[in-house]
Amino acid sequence: MIATLKPARRVRGAARVPGDKSISHRAFLLAALADGAVEVRGAGRGEDVRSTLRCVAELGAAVSEPAGADCIRVQGRSLRGLSPPRAPLDCGNSGTTLRLLAGILAGHSFAATLTGDASLSARPMERVAAPLRAMGARVELSARGTAPLWVEGGALRGIDYSMPVASAQVKSCILLAALYAEGASAVREPVPTRDHTERLLGAAGVSLKRERGAIVITPATRLSLDRIEVPGDFSSAAFLLAAAALLPGSEIELRAVGLNPSRTAFLDLLHDMGAAVEHQIESESGAEPRGAVRVRGAELRAVSLGPERAAALIDELPLVAALAARAEGISELRGAAELRHKESDRLAAMAQGLRALGAQVEELPDGWVIQGPAALCGAELQSRGDHRVAMALAVLALAARGPSRIHAAECVAVSFPGFFETLESLVEC
Ligand code: S3P
Repeated sequence: MIATLKPARRVRGAARVPGDKSISHRAFLLAALADGAVEVRGAGRGEDVRSTLRCVAELGAAVSEPAGADCIRVQGRSLRGLSPPRAPLDCGNSGTTLRLLAGILAGHSFAATLTGDASLSARPMERVAAPLRAMGARVELSARGTAPLWVEGGALRGIDYSMPVASAQVKSCILLAALYAEGASAVREPVPTRDHTERLLGAAGVSLKRERGAIVITPATRLSLDRIEVPGDFSSAAFLLAAAALLPGSEIELRAVGLNPSRTAFLDLLHDMGAAVEHQIESESGAEPRGAVRVRGAELRAVSLGPERAAALIDELPLVAALAARAEGISELRGAAELRHKESDRLAAMAQGLRALGAQVEELPDGWVIQGPAALCGAELQSRGDHRVAMALAVLALAARGPSRIHAAECVAVSFPGFFETLESLVEC
């Protein structure tokens, strides 16, 4: 599908965003391990979340979607009760599905294979294989260290693990395997990443605490969950907020968005770049805070950031690059080499897209230097099959003088089905 974006004067209004993708994955995976039925409300319905649902059903946890209700019910099989899958488990485009499931399967005594599409099959998996092997699981990968990932679990031992890369997926994989280990485990992150797994495990009754920079987890015998509420996806909201920030005179409000502080670094960044940002937590019930966010657009100024901030903004970095192209001054965005291992090489994909629109960008091994503000022209843009690249370029294309076309734009359905329609409903030409 080709999406056409016309220049916009501003964006205005209110919108809702899909349920949080990261939290939805965790909700369905933990629901499958709970004792009895779990109702998950407000979950994302994008392709990645569908991949997780398909996999848990293959592992024996029945999934039902009562018509007309914003609720998906999973029949939990208990912590050790998943059944061997009849075929390789297809994780589609979803790294979170594959890496978190690897941790769960390491605790089961059968063998299973995890596969994915071409993009997922090019992403590094040794980062989960190494700690799982150290815990006692058998794990095999392709010669390139990628999926298919074959895992045979069983008697695991606790681990004290210092992660070489900042990754919530790797952290979560180890925490999930640690549920099954003999003895406690400790996981140390180089910089903090999103903590949804810790919050949901805590809500399910697992003992988990922070001790001198480590997350210490005690093995569990059961997960107690019956209902999980998923807030709106902050990372999906970020695209709409960025559109407002980029176009002076814009003002938008998004409701019921997840406001977990480990996800909202983009709000501080928008503020630092000169946009007017307000947010207010409206509910803390359940494991995750949620609330309303309002952004008003302004003339933006350049921003610089390094590894710690890059990790906190990991999914928003393509958007930060887009905003920097319209900001006054030189933005230096470093410490983001991880972007080369996402659904596409996001450093290269955004450099190419920004240049096509007329921005001045230098691509570095671990980031970009962007000189703004550039007068942008309409362009032919490539998503490279990456949902966040497609959406970041779409937002920036609103600030160009002529229309742009984004190729392979259907990938937005990985995390934000209906993205173009939602954006269109806010745009004033
Ligand atoms: C995610 C963690 C991040 C993020 C991804 C979702 C998660 O990946 O980029 O979109 O749900 O844990 P890494 O752990 O590879 O940084």
